[in-house]
Amino acid sequence: VQLATEAAKAAGSLEALRASMEAFEECELKRGARNLVFSDGVAGARVMIVGEAPGREEDLQGKPFVGRAGQLLDRMLAAIGLNRASTVYITNVLPWRPPQNRDPRPDEIAMMKPFLVRHIELADPDLLVIMGNISCDALLGKRGITRLRGKWAEAEGRPAIPMFHPAYLLRQPAMKREAWADLLELQARLKALG
Ligand code: URA
Repeated sequence: VQLATEAAKAAGSLEALRASMEAFEECELKRGARNLVFSDGVAGARVMIVGEAPGREEDLQGKPFVGRAGQLLDRMLAAIGLNRASTVYITNVLPWRPPQNRDPRPDEIAMMKPFLVRHIELADPDLLVIMGNISCDALLGKRGITRLRGKWAEAEGRPAIPMFHPAYLLRQPAMKREAWADLLELQARLKALG
């Protein structure tokens, strides 16, 4: 983690951060992954979405949220007038796909966290959207998305709203009602920012 902290701190731009993650050899997830999945969307957007880790499609394409969950995410964003072409920036807690999409381990999350923290600093969003339990764990230090969702918290000095992960919504479509309420909450907060 010391090495990760130093490497992350030394990065003065998003491009430098990406390069420093490409060169980082201390996380064993890298060995099983095809591609580093760094980000998508607009750097400098007001909203930054933090997902969990790449899945199969993301690993192949090197882009976050491009599989089924990502397509749902795009529809959710579109419902409140947001999109990755102009108004959101997207990344994940882990930049490499865990083998067989297993949950990332706490030591893997801790190892890569300095890069995530620096990523947020450099992208400098006004609001964070924390997708699912792994991201809550990484950014809020706790799990329990059912309890945490829809309530503004603070992460890395910024307002942050936990939401159900779109992959969870694909399995539990009845929970889309809650997701919709949380999206409206995000939209209201954005509007209040002016
Ligand atoms: N799920 C995530 O959390 N992130 C992705 O990039 C894809 C699926």
